[in-house]
Amino acid sequence: MKFFVDTANVDDIRDLEATGLLDGVTTNPSLIHKSGRDFMEVTREIASIVDGPVSAETVALDHETMLQEGLKLAKIADNIAVKVPLTVDGLKTCKALRSDGIMVNVTLCFSSSQALLAAKAGASFISPFVGRHDDVSFDGMDLIADIRTIYDNYDFETEILVASVRHPVHITQAALIGADVMTAPPAVIHKLFKHPLTDNGLAAFLKDWEATGQTIL
Ligand code: E4P
Repeated sequence: MKFFVDTANVDDIRDLEATGLLDGVTTNPSLIHKSGRDFMEVTREIASIVDGPVSAETVALDHETMLQEGLKLAKIADNIAVKVPLTVDGLKTCKALRSDGIMVNVTLCFSSSQALLAAKAGASFISPFVGRHDDVSFDGMDLIADIRTIYDNYDFETEILVASVRHPVHITQAALIGADVMTAPPAVIHKLFKHPLTDNGLAAFLKDWEATGQTIL
């Protein structure tokens, strides 16, 4: 499963890029607002930090304007994936951008029928929001499992990008289901490394090593 980070904070992106575990980045208008940076400028910088797809979201609601926005965003760098909402105009835009060879991430997906439409529109990625689903008492992971089944039934190439990830269990569940990608905030990715038994074990080993009086270097 590919790991994308869900942020427009370039320091966090550089930090995770250095681990060698980062496969891409997702942003959205809220994350751009949080960064306090100019949208085009920060997106260009992010696309230069990572080799993988960097999602940049359109904000128009009508197809014509959304398409123009998408074409402009795609010119920032070869690794830009234009993000469009799961609406009629969004899917029309998806189809048009894909026919130009531009990567498209269809966002704000909350049902498996919506995910089916995005695959038929040729989306590169579909972004079902698991956390926001959980917030309204639906199990977001049931949605991921259903989309996996539907896409496998028809050999759709659209990648399932699990979004709105809130904790490490979302990530392991996504991997068990066979999602293609997950995107999570930096803090959630950092939590994946942590285990109290790892910390305890390391402390005990170091204490015993110190007692040997030896050094490696
Ligand atoms: C990613 O593409 C989404 O925009 C993001 O994961 C949404 O997450 P949130 O529900 O925590 O805002």
